[in-house]
Amino acid sequence: MSGIYIHIPFCKKACHYCDFHFSTSLQNKEALVKSILTEIDLRINYLQDKNIKTIYFGGGTPSLLSEKESFLILEKIYKLYNVSKDAEITFECNPDDLSDDKLKELKRLEVNRLSIGLQSFDEEELIWMNRAHTAKESEASVKRAQDRGFENITIDLIYGSKFSNITNWKKTLDKAIALEVKHISSYNLTIEEKTKLGHDFKVKKEIAIDDEKSSEMFLEMIDRLEKNKFIHYEISNFGKEGFFSTHNSNYWKGEHYLGLGPSAHSFDGTSRQWNIANNNLYIKQVSEKTEAYFEKEILTEKERFNEYVLTSLRTIWGIDLNYLKTNFNNDFVKAFVNQVNNYIKQEQVVVKDATYTLTEKENYSLIK
Ligand SMILES: C[S@@+](CC[C@H](N)C(=O)[O-])C[C@H]1O[C@@H](n2cnc3c(N)ncnc32)[C@H](O)[C@@H]1O
Repeated sequence: MSGIYIHIPFCKKACHYCDFHFSTSLQNKEALVKSILTEIDLRINYLQDKNIKTIYFGGGTPSLLSEKESFLILEKIYKLYNVSKDAEITFECNPDDLSDDKLKELKRLEVNRLSIGLQSFDEEELIWMNRAHTAKESEASVKRAQDRGFENITIDLIYGSKFSNITNWKKTLDKAIALEVKHISSYNLTIEEKTKLGHDFKVKKEIAIDDEKSSEMFLEMIDRLEKNKFIHYEISNFGKEGFFSTHNSNYWKGEHYLGLGPSAHSFDGTSRQWNIANNNLYIKQVSEKTEAYFEKEILTEKERFNEYVLTSLRTIWGIDLNYLKTNFNNDFVKAFVNQVNNYIKQEQVVVKDATYTLTEKENYSLIK
């Protein structure tokens, strides 16, 4: 089974912290969708397994697509692939786009999982982030989606800005729990160089909070969410039983996926490739039907090993020693066992049934 990711590189406003690829000019939206349709044809032989378990519209802001645009992309995928009847179809949405009409449209498109970018419940912080919605709108959008029959809803939250402290973070978590969403992704704010925040930080107009405070909020989040039946299944992801993200879990488990659209990444088991992160060049180069719109890297054994160790350690499934033994040279296995023993001694990693997982003890120093 494989997954398909579609990157929709448009946003109404530029969030001051975000360095994902997007444009705030929507002029080329139609042309870009056409290019994605062409790319679907060009990449038809990329996935060996044409059985599709997940389709994920990410961004950017996919909720800016018109119904027709989303329909054309889905129609083409359904035509060319064998999409399972119970496939997980996720749409990333911003709260300000989730009108009643939009929700009806998403239902007609048979989208069955919404990922809503709430980020914060603090009005001042939302303005500082340059978000296009208020906290009230965020809460209302989740309720509206639930009323329209969307059960599988995940929200994104960011902690660790200068606005956050342990007291208001507890309130944020309680609000998120009260919304009765099934899944929460929560990220520690990173200051990215090529963003407004990155620039302001460089010229000392902005400050970063220290790691100890972020770590305290991280541990508080684990505690509060676990008490409310969320399972902490990946460093930044919490889901109720039966509501883990299948699409993202497959990334972490090393399954194959096709990434469409500017900046999208793809993985076929032996190589990774990534599309150009420029809308105009993507449109031009896809129309020329050459291979100029992507770059490709064949993974060495060392790279495959490092990826497996890093991604597995972030999840509750952990690192499987038997998998290491069957898939990698004995030198790699020996080096791993040697190094991991130090972390076991420090109680930062535990091993059970030949599977290594992180503990909560000071593990922020391992994650960084
Ligand atoms: C690229 S965004 C797209 C989702 C949606 N358009 C939105 O803005 O709500 C994916 C998620 O990454 C997270 N994110 C982006 N930049 C981040 C940063 N610098 N630090 C922490 N989290 C970040 C946000 O929580 C965001 O919802």
